[in-house]
This record gives sequence, C-alpha cells and structure tokens, in this order.
Amino acid sequence: PAVAVIAGGRNSEHDVSLASAAGIRRALAEDHDVLDVRIGRDGSWTIGGQRRVTVAEAVAELRRTDVAFPALHGVNGEDGAIAGFLETIGVPYVGSGVIASALAMDKRATKLVAASVGVRVARDISVDDVRRRRCLPAIVKPVTGGSSHGVSLVRTHAELGRALAALGAVTDESGASSGEGAGGGASARAIDGDGLAGVMIEEVIVGREIDVAVLEEADGSLSVAPALEIPRSPGAVFDVEAKYGGDPGFVVPAQLAPEQLDTVSAAAMAIFRALGCRGLARVDFFLDDRGFVFNEVNTMPGMTEHSQLPAMVRAAGMTYTDLIRSLVEVARH
Ligand code: DAL
Ligand code: MG
Repeated sequence: PAVAVIAGGRNSEHDVSLASAAGIRRALAEDHDVLDVRIGRDGSWTIGGQRRVTVAEAVAELRRTDVAFPALHGVNGEDGAIAGFLETIGVPYVGSGVIASALAMDKRATKLVAASVGVRVARDISVDDVRRRRCLPAIVKPVTGGSSHGVSLVRTHAELGRALAALGAVTDESGASSGEGAGGGASARAIDGDGLAGVMIEEVIVGREIDVAVLEEADGSLSVAPALEIPRSPGAVFDVEAKYGGDPGFVVPAQLAPEQLDTVSAAAMAIFRALGCRGLARVDFFLDDRGFVFNEVNTMPGMTEHSQLPAMVRAAGMTYTDLIRSLVEVARH
C-alpha cells in the first residue's frame, strides 16, 4: 500500500513532527510505498523532502495514496485541521477525526469532557483569583500548546505577570503585554473580559506524571498498553528541555499497584471514548496522594522510536515497526 506521511506544520512543534515522521517513514519503508509530504513553517508544501509543490499538486499526490499518516503535532494539524483537509479531499488517515482532534487540542474543553466522565481535573484559577492575589503557586500554559512550549510554574506575582505577558496575555497584575508571545502554537491571546483567552492558570498538582497509550483495533475495540512514568523532581515542569534535551529516562511499565493501573487505564479509555478519538491517543495524568488527575490528551503524540507511546506499546510486546504498520492497517479499514 501507498502511505503519505505528512509532517512539519505551521506551529512550534514543527521539528518534533519531523522527528516523528522520520521514524514512521523508516518503519514503513520496507513494505509500503512511502510518500514524504511536508508542510513548511511558512505553509509551503514539499514532496520527497525537496520538491516544492502547489497545494493542488499535493492534493493530487495524496489522492494517489491509500492512506495518510498525519504526523503533525499541535495547531494547524493535530487540532483537526489536517483531519478536515483529508476528509475534504477524501483520503483515509491514521488517527482522530476533526471534532475529537479539535476538542483534544483545547485543554480547557478536554478537561470539561474528562470531568464529565468522572475523572478528576486540576482546578482552574480565575482572573478574579489572580486579582485577589490568592492563586499561587500556579501553572500557566497556553490552552492549545504542545510539547510543553510556554508552560511555566509561577511562585510569585511578578513571575505570574511575566508568564502571562510572554503568552501575550495582559492582566492588571502584569500591566504589560509582549504582544506576539512565544510564537507559533505557544502564543496565546490577550485577556478577554473576565476570561483568560488562550491562557490557562491551574492549581499545581504535586505528584507523579503518568502517561497511558490507548490504541483502537480495526473492530473498534480499545486496548491500553502498560502505563509510563516520566520521572522528575517534585515541583519541576516536564518542559521542552527535559523532553528533548536528553534521555528523559521514562519508567515503563510505571510502578503502580494493579488497582491503580486499572483505574488509570479505565480513565484513559473513558476519555478516549468521550472525545470520540480514533486510532491512537496518549492520555496524560498526574498521580498525587488523592489519586489520578487528568492532564491532557495528545491525539497525535510524539511518535519517534523513543517517544512515550511507542515505548509503552513496546512494553506490551509490540515493536515500533509493527505499531506503525498496524496504525496504517486500522486506518485503511
Ligand atoms: N505534543 C508532543 C508531540 C507529545 O505530546 O508527545
Ligand atoms: Mg501535548
């Protein structure tokens, strides 16, 4: 079969996407016809790594393939944009559809869905709490960020002001806006009425960070791989540096009691179903002394051989190559 692996994208996770796609292309090289499709940071399209094509030419090439593997992370891709594009041109694809992808990209919307199926979520801190100076310490993040770009732990009001300004938000506290924000998917918009448009401020959950890989089989049934723990020092953020700066030292399977594993696996599947995800997702949690707290869903999580989801699937006995092939097979049916 012919598979178009789509990578890059107009967002801050462009390079992460290229890394995911390189692994996917290698895994498919042996028994698939792989079409290497890339979207530049400027929105230009290339085929085969260098041939610049118009969008119309890209569509024609995509329509000649059996299935697309959109290895895009973040806004303008993983947020439903690429799913909508592929739906529109009639090419089957790996992963979630438009609505699930869009919901999962909006961390505030995803929290509402997770809470609706009975999973605990971090408490949102309101602008009013900020004004009354009773919200610290807190986590500040862009609503639609990825790869932890723009996420910070703030301990003082000055730090909070700087974190909001860096995301393009202005409060009475910060008094200033940096305007453009951190760029790409990490930028967030200005404060709007009494809501923080594009920015979330949350209570800090002090606990372990546990990820769960959910895979959908061709018959629609779900399976969950052994959970993974991201070890880190208490209170530290698993930030861009920790994620891509070296060996993150994932612990897989995570050391959890059997009932904890059951609880977190059931929560991950319930959230996957409630969002209407397809194919695959990585559902991330914290574990504190009161139990699991939902953090976020990635409908196209990092897919290099060393990324979390492939590591979990490997712990379940499936090689990286078989995982990628199986995602393609499921998408074709
Ligand atoms: N957003 C990155 C790619 C991840 O979750 O793995
Ligand atoms: Mg993410």
